Amino acid sequence: MTVLAVIGAQWGDESKGKIVDLLAQRADVVVRFQGGSNAGHTVVNTKGKFALHLLPVGVLDPRIVSVIANGVVVDPEVVLSEIADLEARGIPVTNLKISDRAHIVMPYHRIQDQLQEQSRGEWKLGTTLRGIGPAYEDKAARDGLRVVDLMDLESLHERLAYIVGQKNRLFSAVFGAAPISFHDVFESVRAYADRLRPYVCDTVELLHDAYSAGKNIILEGAQATLLDVEFGTYPTVTSSSPSIGTACTGTGLPPKAIDRVVGIFKAYYSRVGNGPFPTELSGDLGHAIRERGGEYGTTTGRPRRVGWFDAVLGKYAAKINGFDYCIINALDVLDEFETVKICVGYEHDTGRIDRVPADVNLLSRCRPIYEDMPGWRTPTTAARSFEDLPPRAQAYIDRIGQLIGCPSAIVTVGLHRDCTITRVPLL
Ligand code: GDP
Ligand code: IMO
Ligand code: MG
Repeated sequence: MTVLAVIGAQWGDESKGKIVDLLAQRADVVVRFQGGSNAGHTVVNTKGKFALHLLPVGVLDPRIVSVIANGVVVDPEVVLSEIADLEARGIPVTNLKISDRAHIVMPYHRIQDQLQEQSRGEWKLGTTLRGIGPAYEDKAARDGLRVVDLMDLESLHERLAYIVGQKNRLFSAVFGAAPISFHDVFESVRAYADRLRPYVCDTVELLHDAYSAGKNIILEGAQATLLDVEFGTYPTVTSSSPSIGTACTGTGLPPKAIDRVVGIFKAYYSRVGNGPFPTELSGDLGHAIRERGGEYGTTTGRPRRVGWFDAVLGKYAAKINGFDYCIINALDVLDEFETVKICVGYEHDTGRIDRVPADVNLLSRCRPIYEDMPGWRTPTTAARSFEDLPPRAQAYIDRIGQLIGCPSAIVTVGLHRDCTITRVPLL
């Protein structure tokens, strides 16, 4: 019996989906605990290629109980369309549970996300426009609607009328936008409510029962530590806290229940959306990594920015989350380079910096100090044990582990589930 938290350590898209799919073969329960349909988790396994946004990766195996826990903001339209897509591909979604405490992403949240982004001008964040920020805003403002509210439409009617009235005042006064129709909003909610009902339950009880019964539970992080509203490169972050704390607050499981925390990295860094990125590569090197890694957003299709591994950021993520192990994905993407670089500190006009400053303007002006390592210039995709890797690739992986302060448990060398080197079994 193990409760394992899988946490994004960079700016997202570290291949958390692939790792959860791999480890889920030995799991009973897979839980999404924060974020919403801004996530895009790619999985390639024996059943095909999938990109999941809101459903936990466990849904690909009907044996697994898949839970959307209270910390997630749930867009009913996305849940229902993802279920329909999977069922059309012959994968029945029979074991999905949605927390009655989870907040709902309403149609007006998407509109608000768009209006806010437009009005930010040069401070635009580059959000996924999925309504995530506004849904978490309303949650904190106590103007959110929860799944449980959808289960009692009669009681909801009056409160929703008030909320829609407030939204219309905001849209017209602040953004000069057209009002939305309460009737349309209410009718769309009514349509979703009945279809969601079979999946809704008290997931706090469900998870505690699973924990008490000694089940293997994977807590599937979305987004990542550098996008964390607390610890990330604020303000270009998401509106949830994807770091380890939310594995508890987003599920109702206590800290002591979590046996192991693994940090998911790629062998390089990537970022989609705006914000500082000290090791970002433009030109041919950046282009080569983007193409070899297929670095285009799973949710929005935007080309991802890419750069060398940044051990200053990596160590920061390891510290905040207390990673027991790291997992290094997509090593094969670096197979052709003559030299690979790891950032070990920053140079700034005021001197050397070895930590992650809160001031993003300062971080943007930091120049990386690199440690160069010789590239291995050998294909690694066929490697299935650490010893199969060229010694220089082994040295690169171990140097990363040393710099960020946690050993690597898994290295992956391709997107397919099989392209995996397991050094330490995690479940
Ligand atoms: P998630 O959001 O953390 O689940 O990650 P995504 O699925 O959004 O993005 C992972 C990205 O890394 C995708 O663009 C994949 O194509 C790429 N990727 C992940 N693992 C590997 C790997 O082992 N080899 C290669 N070549 N690409 C990988
Ligand atoms: P996964 O789970 C990468 C980024 C957006 C934007 C910022 C805020 O696939 O790793 P939001 O829509 O959340 O308000 O956008 O966060 N972002 C992600 N980037 N992977 C993700 O999820 C992301 N989810 C949000 O691009 O910069
Ligand atoms: Mg992704």
